[in-house]
Amino acid sequence: MKPGWASDTVHRRAAREGYRSRAAYKILEIQERFRVVRPGDTVVDLGAAPGSWLQVLATLTRGTILGVDLQPVPPLPGVTTLVGDFTDPAVREQILAAVPMVSVLVSDAAPHLSGNRSIDQARAVGLGEDALALACRVLSPGGNFVVKSFQGEDFDGLLAEVRARFRAVHVYRPKVTRKGSRECYIIGKNFAGRETC
Ligand SMILES: C[S@@+](CC[C@H](N)C(=O)[O-])C[C@H]1O[C@@H](n2cnc3c(N)ncnc32)[C@H](O)[C@@H]1O
Repeated sequence: MKPGWASDTVHRRAAREGYRSRAAYKILEIQERFRVVRPGDTVVDLGAAPGSWLQVLATLTRGTILGVDLQPVPPLPGVTTLVGDFTDPAVREQILAAVPMVSVLVSDAAPHLSGNRSIDQARAVGLGEDALALACRVLSPGGNFVVKSFQGEDFDGLLAEVRARFRAVHVYRPKVTRKGSRECYIIGKNFAGRETC
C-alpha cells in the first residue's frame, strides 16, 4: 500500500480483492510490521463487523477465531462469531466460555459518533480500556494485543496501561488511515501476565 492513497482508491482495491472493507489493509500492515499473529494462534476480534479483519486473520492462523460485534457478521469459513456488546459482563462471560485461553486479542471497535469531539474521544478511549480489561482476562502470558484508539485526551493514560502489561508496546498509524483522522493502534506484544492487571 502506497502512503497517501486516496480513500476511494483503497475502497475500490478492497472490493476488487474481495475484502469486506478497507480496514483489511490496516491489520495487514500491522501484521507485516509487528507479526502479532502466528500460525496456530487462537484469536479474538472485537468490533469485527463486517468482517474484513476476520478475513485476514483466517489467512494467518489455523487456530480458533472468534469475532464479536454489536452487528451480525456475515458467515466466514473457519470463523465463529458472536453478536453482542463486549463491554457487557454477560457477553464477556460468553467470550470466556467460547475461548478460555487466547493468544491474540485485537479490537477495531469504534463507538457511534455523537459529533461532540470530547464525548467521542472519551468513548473511544473507554472502549480501548474495556478491550484491555478483557485482554487481561483471556490472554495467555506472552500473548499479543492490538487496539484501535484516537490520539487526544486520555490516550496517554490508555497507552500507559498497555505499557504496564506488555513487554513491548508500539503506537502505529496505518498508511491507509484517512487524512485528518486521529485514529491509531496500540500494539502490545508479549503479555506479562494477569498479575500486572
Ligand atoms: C470500524 S468497524 C470494524 C471493522 C472491522 N474491523 C472490519 O475489518 O470489518 C467498528 C465496529 O465496532 C463495533 N462496536 C462498537 N462498539 C462495540 C461494542 N461495545 N461491542 C461490540 N462491537 C462494537 C461496531 O458495531 C462496528 O461494527
